[in-house]
Amino acid sequence: MNIALASDHGGFKLKEEIAGLLGEAGIKYKDFGAFSEEAVDYPDLALIVAEGVRSGDFDRGILCCGTGIGVAIAANKVPGIRAALCHDTFSARAAREHNCANILTLGQRVIGPGLARDIVTTWLEAEFKAGRHARRVEKIAAIEQKYNRCSR
Ligand code: RB5
Repeated sequence: MNIALASDHGGFKLKEEIAGLLGEAGIKYKDFGAFSEEAVDYPDLALIVAEGVRSGDFDRGILCCGTGIGVAIAANKVPGIRAALCHDTFSARAAREHNCANILTLGQRVIGPGLARDIVTTWLEAEFKAGRHARRVEKIAAIEQKYNRCSR
C-alpha cells in the first residue's frame, strides 16, 4: 500500500506522528508537507493528496488539519474521492467497510496521538465489504456525474 500524507500547520504535529507510525509499520508513504508550523492553506495540501489518490499514484491518503474538517471538505470536491473525518475507531472501520473511504482525515486539535494511531491502524487494516455497500458508493459517483454534466 502506498499512502499520500499531508497536513496544514494546524495538523503538522499529528501528521509527523502518523508518518512515524507508517514508518514503524513499514508502510510506504510520501509526505507532501507541511514541514513546519508556518501557516499554509489546507485546501492546497488536500488537493495534492486528493489528486494523488484520484490518479492512482497512491492507494489511499491521510490528511490532518486542526479539526480534520477543512481538509475533508476540500478533498471531497475532487471526483472519486471519499474522504472521511474519523475521530473514533468504530467510524474508521465503517468508513472503509461501508463507504470505501479512500482518504482519512484527522484533527490535531481534537484528538491525541495515541487515539490517532489506533484510528489510522484500524482504517488501514479494514477492507470495503462491497455487497449492498457497493450500490451506495456507486450512487455517490452518480451524484458526481450529475453535477459534472452541469455548466455551472
Ligand atoms: C487552521 O487554523 C485551521 O483552520 C485548519 O487547520 C483546519 O482546522 C480547518 O478546517
